[in-house]
Amino acid sequence: MLKLAIMGAMQEEIEPLIANFSDVKVTEFANNKYYEVNFNGIDIVIAYSKIGKVFASLTATTMIEKFGCNKLLFSGVAGAINPSLKIGDLIVATKLCQHDLDITAFGHPYGYVPGGAVYIESDKELIELANEVSNDLNIKLTEGIIATGDQFVANEERKNWIGNTFKADALEMEGASVAVVCNALDVPFLILRSISDSADMDAGFSFDEFLKSSALRSAEFIMEVVKRVK
Ligand code: ADE
Repeated sequence: MLKLAIMGAMQEEIEPLIANFSDVKVTEFANNKYYEVNFNGIDIVIAYSKIGKVFASLTATTMIEKFGCNKLLFSGVAGAINPSLKIGDLIVATKLCQHDLDITAFGHPYGYVPGGAVYIESDKELIELANEVSNDLNIKLTEGIIATGDQFVANEERKNWIGNTFKADALEMEGASVAVVCNALDVPFLILRSISDSADMDAGFSFDEFLKSSALRSAEFIMEVVKRVK
């Protein structure tokens, strides 16, 4: 039976999700809050992890191992690398990588450690479902590679390096760690992000200005995915 996890990294990213439900059960675990709801007969657990790969890994693992979630959707914001992505645009990750994982000193490629893989692929059925929502509701959705690292990127040079090294279209700070957890635990996942900035010198200002509106766009799209998920 389906039990759905919906994750964000920041409170602003899950607030517009929780706002859809009236009967919410809150459980505290490992310095975090988990919001349990039922929607159209589907049990859903919602949480924000706090920023970064470590907190995101902890939350994704908790949702799967403690709460028994067997499908995971991530909703939030990202910085654009691909110049065709504008503020508010939605991107769904085809695959994800860790741009700050570096043991190249030992001859390995960026983003790789033995036993792992540079890229983790998202679930194809969930991507298909997202494309259905996009087509049916006429909402533009871009498929692309998302690069994750424990850095807020506000630097053109770093952004371009990530873009060139990983062919990445957008960057953020949690997606790939959630992907690693879901892949290891055999849980289908989808990472959806709405653009809040362009990871350049203005990124900090842009992020502050557009966090809420972009997070809302992502959350609204995720709710449409939730309505159709099986
Ligand atoms: N999330 C949204 N914008 C970002 C940026 N510029 N760097 C890292 N994570 C982000």
